[in-house]
Amino acid sequence: MEKRQELYAGKAKSVYHTDDPDRLILHFRDDTSAFDGQKKEALARKGMVNNKFNAFIMDKLGDAGIPTHFEQLLSDTECVVKNLDMIPVECVVRNLSAGSLCRRLGVEEGLELNPPTFELFLKNDEQHDPMINESLAETFGWATPEQLAEMKALTFKVNDVLKALFEAGGMLLVDYKLEFGLFHGQIVLGDEFSPDGCRLWDASTREKLDKDRFRQGLGGVIEAYEEVGRRIGVDFG
Ligand code: C5P
Repeated sequence: MEKRQELYAGKAKSVYHTDDPDRLILHFRDDTSAFDGQKKEALARKGMVNNKFNAFIMDKLGDAGIPTHFEQLLSDTECVVKNLDMIPVECVVRNLSAGSLCRRLGVEEGLELNPPTFELFLKNDEQHDPMINESLAETFGWATPEQLAEMKALTFKVNDVLKALFEAGGMLLVDYKLEFGLFHGQIVLGDEFSPDGCRLWDASTREKLDKDRFRQGLGGVIEAYEEVGRRIGVDFG
């Protein structure tokens, strides 16, 4: 497979065309950003750690019957994925209260959410990814009701698989964000799953092992990502 011109550079990943119009290459960079890009830093090893972490998780989800865009690792920091037509909606499931839910509703952090909640956000940097709902998504044509129903079902299926995986490693999956796209008409999980896009706490101490370490300036960011990976069996080489 031949790597061709850059299609898009996001805050932490760059996407490249290939000689196959159905395939793209994702390059995980060391760049880390938070608060709409206001806080930025390059963290050594992050690209490699997130690339291998994501490959491991996508494989687990694929094994569980969840269609994902992931195809194969290409190098320490690159992988091959299906070229999806992305749906500009972020799906968030929460098992415990944290982050924007606490700020929005004034509830304390760490409450068990039963049943887990499901939220939709519009992927739009200029508008700071505002919260939306099914009605707005349908009216503005971001996704059809059928697509939204499937995205919701798949997002909860991911919760079943990953809650159990992290629990076995002594961790709590607090919340996470997923993005989906269409591949020849089928809804497929895209983007990445890494500690950049979820919250993970140690189950006994509730120590934060995810990007909140970067957001809150706690240090040891990549060390925490590696610890999470080690506990679930990711091979960082
Ligand atoms: O900020 P908030 O509490 O809404 O985030 C919920 C979850 O979604 C967190 O795990 C966060 O890391 C993730 N998220 C993300 N990208 C965004 C928004 C949220 O990865 N643009």
